[in-house]
Amino acid sequence: MKNISKKIIIGNWKMNLSYKDSVILGKKIINNLKGKRIKNEVVILPDFSALSSISQIIKKPLVLGAQDIAKNKLGAYTGEVSLESLKQLNCSYILIGHSERRQYFFDDEMIADKMKNVLENSNITPILCIGETLGQKRSGKTLLVLEKQIKTAFSKVGKLTNKKIIIAYEPVWAIGTGRIITVADAIVIHKKIKSLVEKICHNNLPKELGIIYGGSININNFSNFKDCSDISGLLIGGTSLKAGDFLNIVNNF
Ligand code: PGA
Repeated sequence: MKNISKKIIIGNWKMNLSYKDSVILGKKIINNLKGKRIKNEVVILPDFSALSSISQIIKKPLVLGAQDIAKNKLGAYTGEVSLESLKQLNCSYILIGHSERRQYFFDDEMIADKMKNVLENSNITPILCIGETLGQKRSGKTLLVLEKQIKTAFSKVGKLTNKKIIIAYEPVWAIGTGRIITVADAIVIHKKIKSLVEKICHNNLPKELGIIYGGSININNFSNFKDCSDISGLLIGGTSLKAGDFLNIVNNF
């Protein structure tokens, strides 16, 4: 199992922008990066309504991803968006199990089905989000929680040996709160996540694995996470909505 070859910066826009504002932000980032040589992989995750319009104008090196995926293939599943559509819209990444989705919309078990759907039926890279709540951290359960989340997520997947997988460690207590993990703690947990993947997928390891950090990253703290071989990138929420700040991180991480 190799580390991903390039570090990755992902902007998760959540449902913060309307369709029109998403396209405006997308254009700003696309125009700024168009034709530039960027050493990192750069991904934006607009909401579903904006994917089609942005997919028509997006240019390398920027790539597109989705914020979630249906667990089923095509069919009578009102309100869901299929993997087939995301393939046609040239999504290279799909976020699975973001803590806001886990909290409001589905249980951990569904994550196993979503991972299976993406990995078995496409070459799209899943970005699996894991992380503990403040209560779990305070009661010393962080590693147990992460282990259970990883075990569940990989419980239904088939062959992984030709797959790339990103795991985003996002402590729930750090998302949108301004509270941030220390780099030293992040490194310890990232190493642990890697060894959990090695244990859980022991004879079926993914070809490439990237473990990235997310939670209250901004222009003042991102550089602390730079140059750490155990931190393969960043998942950025609020700060990714400001084109200037996002591009600053993209250019300097
Ligand atoms: P935040 O969100 O950067 O606003 O904390 C991160 C995320 O939820 O992916």
